[in-house]
Amino acid sequence: MRLADSFRSERFGAVRIHELQRVIELDSGAVANSGLPGLSGASRVITPDALRAIETQLVIVVPCMNESRSVIEGVLSGIPHDCLIVLVSNSDRGPVDRYEIEAQTVEQFCRLAGRSALTVHQRDPGVAAAFKAAGMDELIDDDGLVRAGKGEAMLVGMALAAMTGRQYVGYVDADNYVPGAVHEYCKAYAAGLHLAESPYSMVRISWHSKPKLREGRLFFSRRGRSSEVTNEWLNRFLAEYSHFGTEVIATGNAGEHAMSLALGLKLRLAGGFAVEPFEYVDLFEQFGGVLESAHPDVMASSVPVLQIETRNPHFHDNKGEEHVQGMRMQALNVLYHSAVTLPAVRQAILDFMVAQGVLEVGQQPPRERIYPPVGTLALDLLYDALDAEAQSFRQLDGRAAAGLPAAPPIDRHTIPV
Ligand code: GDD
Repeated sequence: MRLADSFRSERFGAVRIHELQRVIELDSGAVANSGLPGLSGASRVITPDALRAIETQLVIVVPCMNESRSVIEGVLSGIPHDCLIVLVSNSDRGPVDRYEIEAQTVEQFCRLAGRSALTVHQRDPGVAAAFKAAGMDELIDDDGLVRAGKGEAMLVGMALAAMTGRQYVGYVDADNYVPGAVHEYCKAYAAGLHLAESPYSMVRISWHSKPKLREGRLFFSRRGRSSEVTNEWLNRFLAEYSHFGTEVIATGNAGEHAMSLALGLKLRLAGGFAVEPFEYVDLFEQFGGVLESAHPDVMASSVPVLQIETRNPHFHDNKGEEHVQGMRMQALNVLYHSAVTLPAVRQAILDFMVAQGVLEVGQQPPRERIYPPVGTLALDLLYDALDAEAQSFRQLDGRAAAGLPAAPPIDRHTIPV
């Protein structure tokens, strides 16, 4: 893969946000000098070997709620072979058990492709028991189950990823109609994680276009309806500190993103669709140098955030305007309530929300749920309880299925504690 070089970055404490880098070539051949500036200048080649080295350490979590089987199959086919797949579902269990269909889809795919995977249902009572045992009561709702929400699914996925002992976790949505796009996102994660010169790195995708039907013709829209608003406010947050306008953040809502687990396990994740914008906010809170950091090791290093503009169109299920408006407001809620957001920005957010008709004058934006870092969980206890109590929890071992010695994705003896 060849990426355009990123010449500029903005710093906020230890967080270094790189300007958007375009994918120049999806496949740049097997030239040497991976990661070094290209001979032609202005670009970097990441060789297949370098990509593969990251992919063998990469877990791809697929949050899934009531998506169709054929779309899920396409998504699975796009995830590079060496990545480990983790499907976290919140699909209906009745009248038709959609999770069972999804788990079978993953199982069949793994059998055909000689792959390994983990699948679990977020609302399985055994999963709630496991997170309680591991020390995260905050995740449990009044029914005694893990809360519904995409952020919650991502948290469950990150905990499973951490148990595998791999070094990186990435996310791809289950409703993506283009397997080639999924493939490109995963390659871009590997490329970015390879280029990032820090153990605490994050890669976020900005897709090039989203196809839409307008008056019977295809139109390739450049910006997401939610991202436009989220990016603008995150950039205003930065500008209020630096006194310089900026457009550096292009991935505030990026559902497609990856990070090193060394970073991910320290992040607090937010619930629902606040999860992606809050990743930025939490980076600013924990590593921005405004508040005291609990991680001097990270502060002494740096937290690069690489943003990569991919080539494939992002073609996914359209869930309607109300859904998008909800997402936009969740982003503003977390920014409004952050301890590092300066008063002028906070006031401007209030005015904007009132003008949008989502708040009355004098009202405060609601607070989103913020969970403790996954790194605070007792992973050994989590595994034991999952294994004993979560009936939906499946470990698919591609090696055993191929008649080779068993190598389940999680080895109880090597779970990091
Ligand atoms: N397990 C689980 N639990 N999965 C969920 C849940 C949940 O409660 N809610 C949604 N999902 C899954 C969906 O099935 C889909 O695969 C993915 O999470 C994204 O959810 P969508 O409802 O399709 O969101 P979207 O496509 O409108 O928004 C996506 O893009 C935004 C950026 O444009 C999401 O990835 C957002 O998080 C992102 O900000």
